Amino acid sequence: MKFQELKIKASDGEYKLEFVDNAIECVLACDKPENLFFLVDEKIWSLYPDVSNRIEKSGAEYLLIHASEAAKSYGEIEILLDKVLEHSFKRGQKLVAVGGGITQDIVGFIASIVYRGVPWIFVPTSLLSQADSCIGSKTSINLGRRKNALGTFHHPESIYLDLRFLGTLSALEIQSGIGEMLKVHIINSIESFNEIAQNYELLRSNQDIMLQTIFNSLFFKKGIIQQDEKDTNIRLVMNYGHTFGHAIEVASQFRIPHGLAVTLGMDTANYISTLINSKTVEYYDLYHPVLMANLNGLPQVHISKEDYFMALLSDKKNTPTERNFVLLNSNGLPTLQSMPVDSMIPSDSYEYLVGILKSC
Ligand SMILES: NC(=O)c1ccc[n+]([C@@H]2O[C@H](COP(=O)([O-])OP(=O)(O)OC[C@H]3O[C@@H](n4cnc5c(N)ncnc54)[C@H](O)[C@@H]3O)[C@@H](O)[C@H]2O)c1
Repeated sequence: MKFQELKIKASDGEYKLEFVDNAIECVLACDKPENLFFLVDEKIWSLYPDVSNRIEKSGAEYLLIHASEAAKSYGEIEILLDKVLEHSFKRGQKLVAVGGGITQDIVGFIASIVYRGVPWIFVPTSLLSQADSCIGSKTSINLGRRKNALGTFHHPESIYLDLRFLGTLSALEIQSGIGEMLKVHIINSIESFNEIAQNYELLRSNQDIMLQTIFNSLFFKKGIIQQDEKDTNIRLVMNYGHTFGHAIEVASQFRIPHGLAVTLGMDTANYISTLINSKTVEYYDLYHPVLMANLNGLPQVHISKEDYFMALLSDKKNTPTERNFVLLNSNGLPTLQSMPVDSMIPSDSYEYLVGILKSC
């Protein structure tokens, strides 16, 4: 493989991501099976018999996870944690997550709290988790309808990235991962956006281009998280598309995959930017066709206005006197911008995105 590894510096040491051809063998080579406890997305378990057979044959403990936003909730985590402990999970063991971003968030969160923190290993299987969420240390779970309201910083000790898992993802799940890759390319520079835009059609058919784009996305993200691991400063720009995106997810009752809600959220943020700063119009025009292409095949869903406003106004970046949004600056780059609490952004953005959804 062309890319071997990526090392990420964190406040409590360095962790590494390796590009590998057989992720489960790599995990089993890390430690004795009796020290490993696998938590596997049930879809992966049935789609990849070699994975399930190998884990069973190893003798390591395992449990299956149904990957849904509901499973990522506080109540469900308590039930899962209880099962993990009933299976005699001990302090000296490591958790191993095999699945997408939801499995990652669940296992990372559990690993951060059980016995005041245990190590964990991650095998990301969705494009979104391979190209974006697997690095950065964040674990997030939902509290009621509040998306990602609870969480910790607890990175895996190793990440094994195996591209073959991408072969069984649906077209929409691939687009969801591309949504997060578009995000970090736009944040990085206009040049990197132009590069991914040029390669957009080839991503699905050309594995070399996909691999290079995943690597670039992780490399750009690494540059940001190493400067601001705890999300207090420049990392906040990674919320580009997410303030509107989270509100869209909640108001559609999670019927839109995360990275597609982010795609819609970025286009909405760009539109709002044009209302505030006319110099951003050329960048709205530049990004819009690619973002729209990435929404191809999106199912028609109803976005409840009430739920959308509630989610947008309770965003954790807001303060009592200001609403914070990541919008485009005059150079077309996303930046954190403060708006007065009585701004028209909630209603303007709702009208815009409902129109966009109708046109999809
Ligand atoms: N912790 C972080 O830093 C971070 C960053 C971004 C997103 N997230 C979270 O990640 C979640 C979205 O991630 P996701 O899109 O990977 O979600 P996911 O884990 O739900 O995966 C998406 C769907 O694809 C299935 N799947 C996974 N791998 C597959 C494969 N190889 N073949 C076939 N199906 C497969 C899953 O079962 C699920 O149905 C959201 O909850 C989001 O909030 C977390």
